[in-house]
Amino acid sequence: MFGGHHSSRFIVAITGASGVIYGKRLLEVLKDKDAEIHLVISRSAEKIIEYELGISRRDLEKYADYNYSENDLDSPLASGSFKTDGMIIVPCSLKTIAGIASGFSSNLILRAADVTIKEGRKLILVPRETPLSSIHLRNMLELARIGVVILPAMPAFYHKPTSIQDLVDFIVGKILDNLGIEHNLYRRWAQIK
Ligand SMILES: Cc1cc2nc3c(=O)[nH]c(=O)nc-3n(C[C@H](O)[C@H](O)[C@H](O)COP(=O)(O)O)c2cc1C
Repeated sequence: MFGGHHSSRFIVAITGASGVIYGKRLLEVLKDKDAEIHLVISRSAEKIIEYELGISRRDLEKYADYNYSENDLDSPLASGSFKTDGMIIVPCSLKTIAGIASGFSSNLILRAADVTIKEGRKLILVPRETPLSSIHLRNMLELARIGVVILPAMPAFYHKPTSIQDLVDFIVGKILDNLGIEHNLYRRWAQIK
């Protein structure tokens, strides 16, 4: 059913947090790396994509090999028998984190994350919220303890960013580091002597 010529296969989900630009950049980079991309954009994200990027979900869906709506609970992504190299939710709302932490799989993003965890595959969440409440922190701690990677959209400044693109590339570079994919998205820290 799915093409086998790609080097790897990832589920990418974009949820309704600010910072959908991180999701867009990850899609560009993964496509460039010849990964097979299965993309789920939540209903809330759709509005934020229009607001923050001035584009439609269709524009982002062009980067993916397969696209799903959050209601597609009967899609392959909802089953453990569909093998992937991992899932990245970027940006990840704290509502979606709460759903994952409590096993409440009411949409395809939550179900696919639930499956990724139960099958022991890599799950990377990129939350964007500040300040964080004890509820947010508790949910993230619970997930981190079982091996979920919590990678906040928290760019550094030691690489001397001069544009929004530099800030975005830093976070996307961190995601790729975690996936073990080579890149040149940001300059690594080299100690100044
Ligand atoms: C303009 C806008 C910005 C938002 N930014 C954030 C955010 O940065 N982080 C967050 O956790 N929720 C944010 N929200 C709230 C989520 O969109 C809301 O909790 C939604 O139910 C998330 O659903 P989803 O995770 O299924 O996409 C924002 C909502 C709007 C309308």
